Amino acid sequence: MAIKITVVATKGGVGKTTLTANLGGLLADLGQRVLIVDADVQPTLSSYYPLQFRADGGLSDLITSGSTANVISRTTIDRLDIVVSDDPEGRLQNWLLYTPDGRPRLKHVLLSTLDNVYDVILIDTQGAIGPLQDTAVLAADLILSPIPPEILSAREFARGTLEMINRLQPMARLGTPVGPLRGLIYRQDRTLDARRIAQELRAESFAPSRGTITILNTAVPATVAYREAATQRVPVHRWEPHRSGATPSAAHTMLALVDELFPHLEAPRLTERFVGDVPDIGASLASGQG
Ligand SMILES: Nc1ncnc2c1ncn2[C@@H]1O[C@H](COP(=O)(O)OP(=O)(O)OP(=O)(O)O)[C@@H](O)[C@H]1O
Ligand SMILES: [Mg+2]
Repeated sequence: MAIKITVVATKGGVGKTTLTANLGGLLADLGQRVLIVDADVQPTLSSYYPLQFRADGGLSDLITSGSTANVISRTTIDRLDIVVSDDPEGRLQNWLLYTPDGRPRLKHVLLSTLDNVYDVILIDTQGAIGPLQDTAVLAADLILSPIPPEILSAREFARGTLEMINRLQPMARLGTPVGPLRGLIYRQDRTLDARRIAQELRAESFAPSRGTITILNTAVPATVAYREAATQRVPVHRWEPHRSGATPSAAHTMLALVDELFPHLEAPRLTERFVGDVPDIGASLASGQG
């Protein structure tokens, strides 16, 4: 069965698409069969990587027809497929709203069609609440939320994202429980303010949903490598396998994240696949340094 992760934040521009693309690229390089799904009407993820094959259809077709015929496109990265966003006018939102089984729909479609085809399915969402975001959240086994450690984003996480989770809790009675949420300190700069907010987020107990919300140990720093890799249209671990200085390389950071989210993959041991010349990354990850 595929592990399904939906990347969500109720605030725009926090790094959802970059995170989805880079996680997908790394997991594929680690040998996993990966599907990324663009559930944003602004199709940023859809054009993140070059495509080797572009299917006629995309997410609207997948959700409304329940069939995978003509909806799976292939990126130029081995083992990394994508369902593109094909709904520039946002009709799918209305369809989901007025279809009785709208919100649980994506979960059931994925379970009945693609669950055995992929090891991991990653769903990128738009930074605004709505039926499309709901259907993506309800499809997930795990919700991943990037949080830039600056006060407005941290407050919006505590308010908007948690409110969304609480709002969707009753869906459990219809067979679509909301998965546990992992907050990821994302685009952390080297200021004291960022460090303080990251600390506070980690110390917070998120009372209404205690237990289902955890802030991950890995934090993704703000570095130019993520932008450069996006411009070059390659996964960031390939773009920056190592780096000198105090900030860990993008490969190191993304591997630590994969290791935390998918411990069964033993990612540090598989790093030779793309960083064969720098085995020290795997070694230092395994020993908890970095
Ligand atoms: N670790 C990082 N360090 C520095 N910049 C980053 C990092 N990750 C992403 N960015 C940049 O931050 C900007 C926003 O990222 P992205 O588009 O992934 O956010 P988003 O949450 O998907 O936005 P939207 O809500 O519009 O969909 C982009 O310019 C991206 O290149
Ligand atoms: Mg985006």
